[in-house]
Amino acid sequence: MSTPTPLLHVDRLWAFYDQAPVLRGVHLSVAPGELVAVLGRNGSGRSTLAKAIVGLVRTEGTRAIDDQSLASLDTFEIIRLGVAYVPETRDIFPNLNVMQNLQLGQRPGAPLPGVRRWQIEDVLSLFPVLRSRLDTPGGVLSGGEQQMLALGRGVLGNPRLLIVDEPTEGLAPQLVGQVAGFLRMLRDSGIGIVLMEQKLHMAMGIADRIAVMGGGAMVFDGTPDRFREAHEVQRNWLEV
Ligand SMILES: Nc1ncnc2c1ncn2[C@@H]1O[C@H](COP(=O)(O)OP(=O)(O)O)[C@@H](O)[C@H]1O
Ligand SMILES: [Mg+2]
Repeated sequence: MSTPTPLLHVDRLWAFYDQAPVLRGVHLSVAPGELVAVLGRNGSGRSTLAKAIVGLVRTEGTRAIDDQSLASLDTFEIIRLGVAYVPETRDIFPNLNVMQNLQLGQRPGAPLPGVRRWQIEDVLSLFPVLRSRLDTPGGVLSGGEQQMLALGRGVLGNPRLLIVDEPTEGLAPQLVGQVAGFLRMLRDSGIGIVLMEQKLHMAMGIADRIAVMGGGAMVFDGTPDRFREAHEVQRNWLEV
């Protein structure tokens, strides 16, 4: 198999809160239509990596979309390049209803070349529960509904790259399956996905590649099959 051109390229990336480094030379690349699950223990730096890519923490090192460096760009400019970031906090507007939240996620103007334009109707067909909640304020939705709304908003920006931080945290198993199916479908449509995840089983089921963070760097990067055999990585960097 030939190596696809990376959409996201992260190399020797450091990230800092105040002076303290949390990332110490991270490498990660993601191709279009590839879903990479980033695993690691709590506190290993997965959320920091997500924030670092979109410029929400101070970094040193390489971050690029296609060949364009993100180093001197503000977060809004990075988003404009076709990046959607769905944080752990889900970032929906609690006082606006579901429809208004979705409308605010829509990207004005034409999509970037070669990128699918998503419609609110697409999101509602994929997450039918949101259709019955269109007039409900975001703040009173269940955790699962909020997550679907956040993902729906993300995709309405017509991204090329989706960075999503623990989307199934606290969700019932049936909803975990729905979110996994949604991510798989986005990946199959050509979007590159970085999935920060804690649930090993879920990640193994949908990821094209598994990356494991430990000690501020990637301690493993390979296919799910290779990861299954990497007992030492699992023992040293994932099991409690
Ligand atoms: N805003 C912050 N200020 C200072 N330290 C932080 C902040 N956010 C996270 N950290 C620290 O950075 C490390 C990595 O955290 P995080 O990226 O949230 O890991 P993960 O998402 O893998 O659980 C942890 O030691 C955490 O305490
Ligand atoms: Mg986290």
